[in-house]
Amino acid sequence: MKIGILTGGGDAPGLNAAIRAVGRRSLFDGHTVVGIRNGWAGLLGDGDIVSLGRPAFSGILPVGGTVLGSSRVNPMKREGGREEVLRNLQHHDLEALVAIGGDDTLSVAAWLAENGAAVVGVPKTMDNDLLITEYCIGFDSAVSVVTEALDRLHTTATSHHRVMVCEVMGRDTGWVAVMGGLAGGADMIIIPEFPVTLDEVVAHLDVRQSAGSDFSIIVVSEGAEMQGLQSKDDTAGIRDAFGHVQLGRRGVGETLARIIEERTGHETRATVLGHVQRGGSPSAYDRIWATRMGAGAYELVLAKRWGDMPVARCGAVDTARIADVVAEQRRVPRELYELAQVFY
Ligand code: F6P
Repeated sequence: MKIGILTGGGDAPGLNAAIRAVGRRSLFDGHTVVGIRNGWAGLLGDGDIVSLGRPAFSGILPVGGTVLGSSRVNPMKREGGREEVLRNLQHHDLEALVAIGGDDTLSVAAWLAENGAAVVGVPKTMDNDLLITEYCIGFDSAVSVVTEALDRLHTTATSHHRVMVCEVMGRDTGWVAVMGGLAGGADMIIIPEFPVTLDEVVAHLDVRQSAGSDFSIIVVSEGAEMQGLQSKDDTAGIRDAFGHVQLGRRGVGETLARIIEERTGHETRATVLGHVQRGGSPSAYDRIWATRMGAGAYELVLAKRWGDMPVARCGAVDTARIADVVAEQRRVPRELYELAQVFY
């Protein structure tokens, strides 16, 4: 069988572990493996496809990013794009495609599978916002980066008696903020799911001050909405190729820090972690789960279960329909958010 592998959307640590798992399992059983370059862009035009032998998978397990390259090019948003992809799959004799990505990449995969293409998926997004699966490639590494950053911010915050605002990624959900904030002992976590007002932020800082804490660490999600901060709608002009507002450009962390300083008189600084959260070597957890997910996807290929993908459920690799996984975003539950508040 000729099996293609594609990685789409934002890169994430652990992608190479998944590529390696699909590739090594396929080669071991005597199949031919090819890589699609730069996400769906590699299946447009004449196609950008490279042959992958055993050396291509050697030494990539601990390497961040994706050796196949990625992009946010979405064939569904280009006239004739879907047909071009279907044509290329046929033209290059691809008998199976493993699409590794988040909701946008997987939405294309779901459409292709519904339209007769031999496609399976693998869940990847540092935002951790896919339905059904308890694991997405890249999330654990991102949370580890946030945790380490908060540890470092704590020592400088206590030395200077400052408020430190740390802006983290996560798009429209607060998974990275909540999990990173819990692990790093944040004194307040502001996420899109549970909006707070500026008055509430200021009141909380006052309470901490009167309780004897002369420093505070606030984690704010890039997608958090708050009256007085630039709304997501105001940034409508700055969008990526998938059509998403580029939330990092809103500058939520900087604006919040400035307002806090003005309103409370406490010296305040902002740190924007940005793409550092997506870079570098994957955590052991990401390497292991990406390997399990890649191997799971290969099993689905063997079984010709097109339109399915491996998911993590109760600590085991289970399967689900791609269309169900991307049906909507998974949001942070109240229980987790409230647990974080206990430690404010
Ligand atoms: O979806 C992953 C993510 O890192 C989001 O958390 C963030 O909003 C976005 O990608 C940034 O995208 P880009 O790398 O295109 O700036």
